Amino acid sequence: MKKLNKIYLGTNTKMNKTIAQTARFLTELHEHTKDISRDELELFVIPSFTTLYHARKSAPAGSIRIGAQNMGWADCGQFSGEISPIMLKEVGVEVVMIGHSERRRMLGETDEMENKKVQCALAHGLVALLCVGETEEERDYDISDEIIRRQLKIALHGVDKSQTSLLRIAYEPVWAIGINGTPATEEYVQEKHLVIRQTLQELFGAGIGERIPILYGGSVNAGNASALIKVSEVDGLFIGRSAWDAGNFSKIITNVLPVWRSKN
Ligand code: PGA
Repeated sequence: MKKLNKIYLGTNTKMNKTIAQTARFLTELHEHTKDISRDELELFVIPSFTTLYHARKSAPAGSIRIGAQNMGWADCGQFSGEISPIMLKEVGVEVVMIGHSERRRMLGETDEMENKKVQCALAHGLVALLCVGETEEERDYDISDEIIRRQLKIALHGVDKSQTSLLRIAYEPVWAIGINGTPATEEYVQEKHLVIRQTLQELFGAGIGERIPILYGGSVNAGNASALIKVSEVDGLFIGRSAWDAGNFSKIITNVLPVWRSKN
């Protein structure tokens, strides 16, 4: 069953692409997808900080939403190396990715830190794309559900129901991400998205919890995207490597759209 009236598709380019490469990518992606109505597609690209200003100018705002890969949780102050929501909005950023597993693992980000970022992003009217997911070790100990629920309950603590239209959740099992990752099976994705859905409903009530988009990420590619979007609790896909070429990303978009439409 397709519950939302939009499909959510996006990419995080991680620490790749210069300003020129990002601008070219966005221009091409817009060109390839401009005939698809944005009433049924929320398309977003999350490039490096240094590219954001030019990225925003490379495609019309209504076509592709631009996101940042991280955000400091204060408006300004003694936070060397951090970028505030005010600075992000100044360059046209609309989306902030929060809690990507690479930041949690390599930079020591905690659920409590993600919570401050989520609250700050929402208070500034930015879309908060919260990434959650268990490691291979946690999966093998059979505590994935507990981990996912903990990540959600802490990161979303204190979020008001009235702010939830700005929330997106990306379920990205750590073992599925990157060159050594194995994509999760459709059955596994459905099971974990249901855990996320139930947790969101516990936090915000059944009706609101039902309408928060849940995207799957982790080794999504042209070969598995359609099968993944068929999964009933999957509202979108968050793609890394396979989306970094505008032609490939557009192919995935045009392939999954009819599959998503036929979920009705
Ligand atoms: P991948 O990355 O598609 O290259 O596995 C996904 C992600 O890190 O969001």
